Amino acid sequence: MRPLSADHAAAVVAWRNDPANAACFLTQDRLTHDGQLAWTQKQQADRNDHTHVAELSGRPVGMVAIYGVDEAAGEAEYGRILVDRAWRRRGLGHAISAWALDLAFTRLGLKRVYAHCLAANHPIHTLIGQLGFAESARDAGTVRFEISRDRWLARTELRKEPL
Ligand SMILES: CC(C)(COP(=O)(O)OP(=O)(O)OC[C@H]1O[C@@H](n2cnc3c(N)ncnc32)[C@H](O)[C@@H]1OP(=O)(O)O)[C@@H](O)C(=O)NCCC(=O)NCCS
Repeated sequence: MRPLSADHAAAVVAWRNDPANAACFLTQDRLTHDGQLAWTQKQQADRNDHTHVAELSGRPVGMVAIYGVDEAAGEAEYGRILVDRAWRRRGLGHAISAWALDLAFTRLGLKRVYAHCLAANHPIHTLIGQLGFAESARDAGTVRFEISRDRWLARTELRKEPL
């Protein structure tokens, strides 16, 4: 996992401008390379934004973020999750999301992580449900999910138990 950088701009623009991917996100603005570079500069200066890219043999294969960190409230948002089409259904989305939750709860010491997803995006609902997120609110178009630190740690401890 590498922090998002200018090197990733081409991949991010291609991913997010793919209409099938764009349809999965709440924000569907068409990205440009220059716009992505400018956005990345701002993102890098924001200490409350941890956007990372997964690389395999130096090639970007997916991304995920913990952002909007509110230290006083002890919470942040999980999102910007995307796996390159060629790498889907191999557990990568789950693995990088688990990495992001470890970052949030173990390294940043947060108490709660939440996510906002389109109501129609069933794959992400299933994926984050497997990680332990639970639905906490819903309106016509979006669903809010949350997971607490205690729940995440209980689940990760459980996985370490010998069979
Ligand atoms: C959602 C996404 C990140 C999943 O990535 P992935 O690497 O394929 O996910 P995984 O292989 O780790 O899948 C984990 C589980 O999620 C569920 N899942 C993933 N993709 C699914 C799909 N297309 N249909 C149904 N369930 C799906 C499955 O339960 C899967 O477990 P299984 O393969 O053992 O059945 C990927 O499809 C993606 O990039 N989608 C477009 C962007 C997006 O929707 N982002 C979320 C915005 S809120």
